[in-house]
Amino acid sequence: MSATTNRIALVTGANKGIGFEAARGIAKAGYTLLLAARNPAAGRQAAANLAQEGLDVRFVALDVTRAESISAAAARIEADFGKLDVLVNNAGITDSDDGPPSRARVDAIERVLSTNFLGAVATAQAMLPLLRKSDAGRIVNVSSDLGSITRHGDPTWKYAHVKVLGYCASKAALNMFTVQLAFELNDQGIKVNSVNPGFTATDLNAHRGQQTVKEGAAEVVRVALMEHGPSGKFLETGGELVW
Ligand code: NAI
Repeated sequence: MSATTNRIALVTGANKGIGFEAARGIAKAGYTLLLAARNPAAGRQAAANLAQEGLDVRFVALDVTRAESISAAAARIEADFGKLDVLVNNAGITDSDDGPPSRARVDAIERVLSTNFLGAVATAQAMLPLLRKSDAGRIVNVSSDLGSITRHGDPTWKYAHVKVLGYCASKAALNMFTVQLAFELNDQGIKVNSVNPGFTATDLNAHRGQQTVKEGAAEVVRVALMEHGPSGKFLETGGELVW
């Protein structure tokens, strides 16, 4: 099928939390929103809930740790729409066996890197041919200030005590992907940015976060919708973060 004129966005891990709210925000801006989730029942239900609000939201099965699932999603999008305008790499996990660098279990670090970093890399690589067919392709990597090496090097930082090696390294690695891919795609019209949602009450942190999901998703949505903006930046509500 030839590229559609509708604007198409894909959000991974969007059945709940920040991803769900980002999906809602992007769909509200008039996009056809592809709500990607690992669990088909949860994903279909989440898409149906947003469709009931009058939004154009469709479920796409996508487990970012499974190559065949990623390529099937890309093939589906190619067949249905012929292009992709926005990819939000939102899917992410923590792991109870992750922890401080002296004792984080290596298998836990591996699992977290596999989803939060390699999952985003694999998904972006698979979607790049579709993003290249957009007039203004954008990739938003949902990172965290916990991925800022500069912040971690400052013992007075308010989250300096949160030394969870696998998770923090996964977001630092994701940030490296942002910077390198932005550089590589600089002359191809595809913007790549990292966004820190801020500490947000979701299942990821047993709802200890201080922001609502709407607040957490706000910058993700803003950067996802930004057709003419910077690339290779680490952004949060109100400004730019140090790497
Ligand atoms: P959440 O646990 O509510 O949502 C995470 C989503 O990722 C879920 O839909 C889950 O099913 C999905 N997911 C996990 N593994 C997946 C896989 N292999 N394939 C596809 N989907 C998968 O958590 P939350 O807080 O909404 O997290 C969203 C993103 O925001 C994550 O990348 C997280 O690291 C990031 N973040 C969250 C913060 C917070 O305070 N909640 C702060 C900074 C960043």
